[in-house]
Formats: sequence, structure tokens, C-alpha cells
Amino acid sequence: MNSAQKTDNRLSIEKSVPGRRGLKVKNPLRARASVPPGLKRKTAPRLPELSEFDVVRHFTRLSRLNISLDTHFYPLGSCTMKYNPRFNEEAAALTGFAGLHPLAHDSSAQGTLELLHDFSARLCELCGMDAITLQPAAGAHSEFTGLLVAKAYFEAKKENRSEIIVPDSAHGTNPATASMMGFSTVNIPSGADGRLNVEDLKRHLGPKTAVLMLTVPNTLGIFESNIEEICRAAHAVGALVYMDGANFNALIGLVKPGDLGVDLMHLNMHKTFSTPHGGGGPGAGAIAVKKHLTPHLPAPTVKKEGTAYASNFGDARSIGKVKAFFGNTAVLVKAYAYMLAHSAEELGDIARCSIINANYVRSRLMDIYPSYSKEYCMHECVLTPGPDMTAKGLKTLDVAKRLLDYGFHAPTVYFPLIVHESIMIEPTETESRETLDEFIAAMRAVRDEGLADPQTLKDAPHTMPVKRLDEVQAARQPNLRW
Ligand SMILES: Cc1ncc(COP(=O)(O)O)c(C=O)c1O
Repeated sequence: MNSAQKTDNRLSIEKSVPGRRGLKVKNPLRARASVPPGLKRKTAPRLPELSEFDVVRHFTRLSRLNISLDTHFYPLGSCTMKYNPRFNEEAAALTGFAGLHPLAHDSSAQGTLELLHDFSARLCELCGMDAITLQPAAGAHSEFTGLLVAKAYFEAKKENRSEIIVPDSAHGTNPATASMMGFSTVNIPSGADGRLNVEDLKRHLGPKTAVLMLTVPNTLGIFESNIEEICRAAHAVGALVYMDGANFNALIGLVKPGDLGVDLMHLNMHKTFSTPHGGGGPGAGAIAVKKHLTPHLPAPTVKKEGTAYASNFGDARSIGKVKAFFGNTAVLVKAYAYMLAHSAEELGDIARCSIINANYVRSRLMDIYPSYSKEYCMHECVLTPGPDMTAKGLKTLDVAKRLLDYGFHAPTVYFPLIVHESIMIEPTETESRETLDEFIAAMRAVRDEGLADPQTLKDAPHTMPVKRLDEVQAARQPNLRW
């Protein structure tokens, strides 16, 4: 380009700026980038001066204070910190995936599209569903996407339904998502066995019911064994059954929710397919649906045309995008790598091991920490401090704090809300028997110590850099600055 052409281009930019005709604007882009002289520094900023040693030692010390899966057993129930195998990272770092430009044309992205297509097909097969989107960035984001799909479905049928039924054993994000979407939530209590009472459910179902949101297994770690009857009852009034399938690690390879009557469900890649937990994003979720909901899925999905893969933008019935491009592709590559590392039989072992590990912990502890449910659990168990501990004024929080001194991250505590003083333990499928035995021994030792000298537990933790925090104040008045 010669200098005359350059000038012409610049002039055409100037001319195209509305209302600026005749004004002497040099280059609008450059003008916006420059800092006005009045705002420019007159003196150099005073930055802290430290030696490299000081900085390195400071951050190394801090990193050692961190409790992580690489250093500690993490029996956190529900949201679950899990195995993140190194081979997942290697797969996601392959240049073909990591170096792909987000705006690359389909023809330059065939490998990634093939992966997404194959992953989608395998997930549909495992869930017993017809189609899937991998766009959502997390579990909660999947719920949001699922309810958008449900809304579009009822709008297309010109049905005005305003209620979502959520049992009290559901994950907390379920009622939150329903309210956020403008539905009114109908909360129904679980029965004494931790399950939804079908007769009670039927009393709440009606023409206003849009969706029944069922967490399976629920947050008590219990499988809704009446799920087929539950689905029939919901369908009888024209409602959809949404399954929060975040806990699919307890079902994979054993149960296909679609075969039980579920209309749509979500998966959390971090809970079943060993990716890091994004905590609302940047993780990855998915919504798998039956045929009647397929047209409303977000776009694009991936379709196969002959031997090539292409973006499928669907039609006007799609709810559109919920995340840029195809979702968090790097996370999806990790999840896919984990899936391919297992044969079909081994995928079933994921579920079998998660159930066996949780029941092992439960059965070795329930003589002193009574279990909420008298039945076997699925992937997690809910225990409580025993009556002898309660008589000494010992609470769940005291157990959780003292466990830190034994080198264990605390389990989830005070959730689910429906169990008083709950201790929710998810050992996960990837922990060894030895680790579980050490944890069980620590739980038993904590109880013995507490009975002998309750103050030891009340003052715990004793070995952490900070002692008991005022958690209420921390939640209400967070000090987020140094
Ligand atoms: C049962 C269940 N549903 C929903 C969620 C929310 O998922 P996320 O934290 O990815 O938003 C979780 C958390 O892992 C969960 O355990």
C-alpha cells in the first residue's frame, strides 16, 4: 500500500464517524488509546524492593500452606474435589487443541470438532439421551441452560407453566436456578428414608408444573429408587423431569437416566470426568436431552457430514449460545481423555468404586457417627456426631476443625440442610483403602479425644496458621483486600 492509499483509508474512517464530518480527527483508534497528559505520572511509582530469594521463599511458603488434592485427602461431599490426572493436562496441552484459534474455520478445526462429536455421542449413549450440548461452563450454568431449553419447549407448545418442584434433598443450585429463571419453586420434603414420597409429589403436580428438578443420587447420597414412577407422575400432568446428574459418578455405566424416563439432565465434568472444579466456571458442564427437546438446544453443536465435521446452528427454535464457541473446549478435552482411558466395563467401575468407598467409610464410622439413612448410600454418606458427643456439647464444626490437625481437609459440614449437624463425606472412587483407613482412624480418634477432653476439639485447629475464624463475620463483612 502506498502512502496516498493510507491517507485515503484514514480519511474514510474519519468520514464514517457520525457527526464528526469536518472535524480534524487524526486517527480515532490511536486518539482513544493515549492517556491525557493531566493523568500521566510525574514521578516513578514506589514499588516494594525485595530480593529474588525473599520473593521466592515467600511464595513457596504460602504454597505449602495450601491444602490441595496433591497434598491431602479431601472428603468434601457434594461439590467434590477429585482426581485430576496428569495425562488429562497433557492431552489438553497438545498444540492441535491448545493452539487452535477460536475463530478458525471448521475446515481447520476438524480434530477438535471430531473430538466434540465423538464425546457427545458417547455421553448420549451413557445417559440414554438423544442429543447433548457441551456449551455450559459449570453445573449451575447447565441448570440455567436446561431451564432455558424447558422454557423454549413450553413456549413452542404455547403452554404457560410457572412452577418448578424441587425436593428438599436437591442440590442448592437447583432452587436458586429455578428462581433466577423467574419460576416459583415448590419445595417438597423427603421421606424418612431420604427419598421423595411419590404420593406427596402427586399432590403437588398440576397444570402449572413446568419441571420437576430431581438430584439423583440426591444430596443425602440416596438413589431415588422410585424414579420411574416419579417420571410417569410428572409426565401425566405434562411436566418435564430434569435430573441434576452432577453425581453421575455413582451411576455411570450402571444406569441410563434416559431409560428411566428423565427428559433432560446435566453432567458436571469435574464430578464424573476428573476435570478441575471450575466453581461456577471456567469448568464444563453439559445438558443431555431427549428428542422432544433437541431443537431447543444451544447452538452450535457439531454434526458429521460425510467424513467431515461441521458446526450445526440448528434453527430458530434453538435458545442460541450460552457460552462462546463450543464451550470450554480445553476442559472438555481433559474429560474426553479420562473417558477414553476407561473401557466400557471400567466406566462402570467408576460408579462401583465410588459406591463401595462411601459405604466402607459409612459402615466403619456409623457406630459412633450415626448415619442419616439406615440404608446403603451411593457415592457419599451423611453422618452426624453421636449422642455421647452431643451430650458433651461437641458439634460437627469441632470435628471438622480438629480433622485439620490430623492432616485431612474437612468434609462438607452443615449440608444438606435437612440433616441437623450433618457431616457429608464423599471419599470418591479414586482413593485407596489405606487412605480411607487413615481417615476413619482420624475420625475415631477425634471422637475419643472429644469425649475425654471436649476443650481440645473446641479450641481446634491447633496446628494451622489461623485458629477459629469468625465465619459469620467473614461471610457478612468479607475483607477482600490486603
Ligand atoms: C449435585 C450438584 N449439582 C450442582 C452442582 C453445581 O455445580 P457447579 O459448582 O459446577 O456450578 C454441584 C456442585 O458440584 C453438585 O454437586
